[in-house]
Amino acid sequence: MSGCRVPKTLEWVGGLDGFVSMIDQTKLPTELVYLECRDPETIWHAIKRLSVRGAPAIGVAAAMGVVLGIRDYAGNERTAFLTKLNEVCDYLATSRPTAVNLFWALQRMKTCADGLTDTSVDEIKEQLRNEAIAIRDEDAAMCRRIGEHGQSLIGDGHGVLTHCNAGSLATAEFGTALAPMYVAFEMGRKFKVFADETRPLLQGARLTVWELSQAGIDTTLLCDGAAGALMQSGQVNLVITGSDRIAANGDIANKIGTYGVAVLAKHHNIPFYVAAPSSTFDFDMSSGDGIPIEQRDADEIRRGFGHLIAPPDIPCYSPAFDVTPVGFIRGIITEKGLIEPVTTDKISQVLR
Ligand code: MRU
Repeated sequence: MSGCRVPKTLEWVGGLDGFVSMIDQTKLPTELVYLECRDPETIWHAIKRLSVRGAPAIGVAAAMGVVLGIRDYAGNERTAFLTKLNEVCDYLATSRPTAVNLFWALQRMKTCADGLTDTSVDEIKEQLRNEAIAIRDEDAAMCRRIGEHGQSLIGDGHGVLTHCNAGSLATAEFGTALAPMYVAFEMGRKFKVFADETRPLLQGARLTVWELSQAGIDTTLLCDGAAGALMQSGQVNLVITGSDRIAANGDIANKIGTYGVAVLAKHHNIPFYVAAPSSTFDFDMSSGDGIPIEQRDADEIRRGFGHLIAPPDIPCYSPAFDVTPVGFIRGIITEKGLIEPVTTDKISQVLR
């Protein structure tokens, strides 16, 4: 994987008495520091404050948080242990509402424990640790496959626009939207990436540009408001973003501003692709209308990174995500293949 040069986003270190080590993404790009998480509360806060962020990475963090929450459980009785497990899962589920990978990973941890019927509590704890590590490793492998399925969309001389950070930092490794770029780069293709800065928390400026530059990929940063002019100038051949949740009909939720980019892309006849693993699909959600959208604190706009840049009490509108209707999406790149056109039939054909 020579294309991607970013250190692991998060990993479990040691045995059952070990800890979760994660890059503190709030410190990037000026400092590369790691958080050591030894209890579920630290994981909850890391998710809430975006030390770990990006839908798949949030799922991995939550799964590892479950292990931290149950490993010190003292009893031997299975039913009481499962009650404790459910409590830990319910708690972690309150950290952020939009990325379905969080709930998917928690459900997978519960299903793992439920399936271990004739097993001691100590053994279930060990198996849950293995399951969390498997979720991490499988995510890295899915991202690699997304890259392989999506790389052919990026041609020599292309300009590719992305929004937010759906790279290695947003996943176990390698990324979703950035994975096709890493693979195309490995294959020797020459192209240029344009990264929206992504207000208000600047995941594009702080994270996407940082990780693509580490890999040596030609990357240009732009203000979100410049995306339309850039498309108008003819420099964008393709848009690829990630997603936090994909409804059964193909509507997608992603970082605030994605919808605007998709509308602009359609206006300029530029294909708009979404890259996501199957863990991002929510088949219980018939359309994007029902996807819960996180609202962020107004001070993230008024006092971005500690600097007051607006009247201190001005009301702010700050949804963290928006929904792009399926009609704006040319295709969805998954680890199982490319869904194009995005129809319910094609989604089931590729994923099920
Ligand atoms: O608020 P964030 O930084 O967690 O938002 C992240 C995004 O919107 C990503 O595009 C999405 O989670 C996909 S990550 C592979």
